[in-house]
Amino acid sequence: MLKILDKEFVPYISAEDIQSRIKEMGAKISTSYKGTKPLLISVLNGSFIFTADLIRTIDTPIEVTFIRVASYEALKTTGKVREILGLTENVFGRDILILEDIVDTGTTLQHLSEAFQDLGTKSIKVATLLHKPDAQEKASKPDFVGFEIPNKFVIGFGLDYEGMGRELKEIYQLA
Ligand code: IMP
Repeated sequence: MLKILDKEFVPYISAEDIQSRIKEMGAKISTSYKGTKPLLISVLNGSFIFTADLIRTIDTPIEVTFIRVASYEALKTTGKVREILGLTENVFGRDILILEDIVDTGTTLQHLSEAFQDLGTKSIKVATLLHKPDAQEKASKPDFVGFEIPNKFVIGFGLDYEGMGRELKEIYQLA
């Protein structure tokens, strides 16, 4: 049992299971992108640990960059508007692989995919360590998924609760 602020968490996915699943994902990604030199775009903050471990299991040439997604409430009718921050690479005509820590409702991914399409990318795929299928409403299913998990809040391995818990080697679930 782990207490962070007002919440209690229990161990959910071990460090060993995370690492062996990431290796399998890396092998699949390597096969899919052989000879194409994709640009891997890691969505900060949560994805930084997944990204660091995943790219070291990939054995075909790739490039890696990092972005943030800003979200803010726009007009009530359009809901949340998100914008890509920090993208300096030219993505026109490139094969893009978006790296996410977790896909929950899919809102983030849907907006990112649309934004990249507008920039003239050749292809856009998504790799996520965690996927909450119950909660997903908007985007289509990610192309590479580490673990399908129930719709319960998780922390660790880059994921936070109120900014804490990112450093944990394993993933914990709300008790
Ligand atoms: P989406 O746009 O609803 O798919 O939300 C994705 C973002 O919400 C992730 O990148 C996380 O930052 C955050 N998030 C969703 N579920 C969790 C969770 O269980 N733990 C920590 N962060 C989460």
